[in-house]
Amino acid sequence: MELRRCYDAATAEVEPPLAIVDMDALRANAANLVSRAAGKPIRVASKSVRCRAILEEVLAMDGFSGIMAFTLPEALWLARHQVSDDILVAYPTADRTALAALAADPHAAATVTVVVDSADHLDLIEKAAGDQRGDHPIRVCLELDAAYHALSGRVRVGARRSPVHAPEQAAALAREIGKRPGLVLAGIMAYESQIAGVGDDPPGRPLRARAIRAIQARSRAELAGRRAAVVRAVREVRPDLEFVNGGGTGSVEKTAAEEAAPRRTASWAWRGDLPRRRLPGLGQRRQDPPAAAVPAGRAVVRRGRGSRRGADSAAGERRRFARRGRPRLVSARQGR
Ligand SMILES: Cc1ncc(COP(=O)(O)O)c(C=O)c1O
Repeated sequence: MELRRCYDAATAEVEPPLAIVDMDALRANAANLVSRAAGKPIRVASKSVRCRAILEEVLAMDGFSGIMAFTLPEALWLARHQVSDDILVAYPTADRTALAALAADPHAAATVTVVVDSADHLDLIEKAAGDQRGDHPIRVCLELDAAYHALSGRVRVGARRSPVHAPEQAAALAREIGKRPGLVLAGIMAYESQIAGVGDDPPGRPLRARAIRAIQARSRAELAGRRAAVVRAVREVRPDLEFVNGGGTGSVEKTAAEEAAPRRTASWAWRGDLPRRRLPGLGQRRQDPPAAAVPAGRAVVRRGRGSRRGADSAAGERRRFARRGRPRLVSARQGR
């Protein structure tokens, strides 16, 4: 509560929405991740941080290298501001305007890498680059399906992120990229959401915890072998592969220990861990308290019964609105 009063006093004159970051906590959190990564560079995931100054702060620390961006326009913006010289857009883009801008800008083309998962996608990128294409090829990263397939493929655990699953499929796509002078294969990405993003100790559910751990252990073993085989197969086609990207906050030490570590760097994604967004059951992997403390503030525009409500709270609030009629407006200070 004391801390809350300090935050309130420090931001009394600041217009919301706002966020406060406890920089000591953020640095401790980051250092903890670096020690878990045991020497592998950590790529910061911008979509979880959403603040350029924090990205810059984190990238200045030893152990961090590169950004994982959410969209291509965001990556272009980060490149323009020289936040990093290694920005991976981790979600396949079909934004033709942004692709044309990428192709036309030599600095962005040397800095930004986009993920690809099929020949059709390569066609789209080449077409979008069109006449804008300069001397620099567009850097692409092959996205691998890191989900766990059990019972001869009848059961799938993990996100459906890419159709490329087997080493030979990855090598075929690498060859396809190699045939296109406007593109260059820079890396491989394989994000194991079923391990990195699923808590393995849900409170009060020991049986479920055991089942999750068993599946994750199998998935980890399967993926370690397959990821290494994919890297070998792709390297035969493209020996100068620069990076392999994998893992997340929940799996840093496990992914980092894998053999598939590439020759130059492996970049492991990291999510700034906001206390309220922690996944139950990532307990053993949690940051030491205090974790990066990022309390967010919004203007309070109406009061609910016995509680305060933010300006844009969700469905429940809309239902209450419908029942009670128009809410009374109050100021941010009144609402506290
Ligand atoms: C490709 C990729 N890598 C890494 C991450 C970060 O994972 P985490 O939030 O578990 O750190 C994400 C998050 O969604 C992701 O999409």
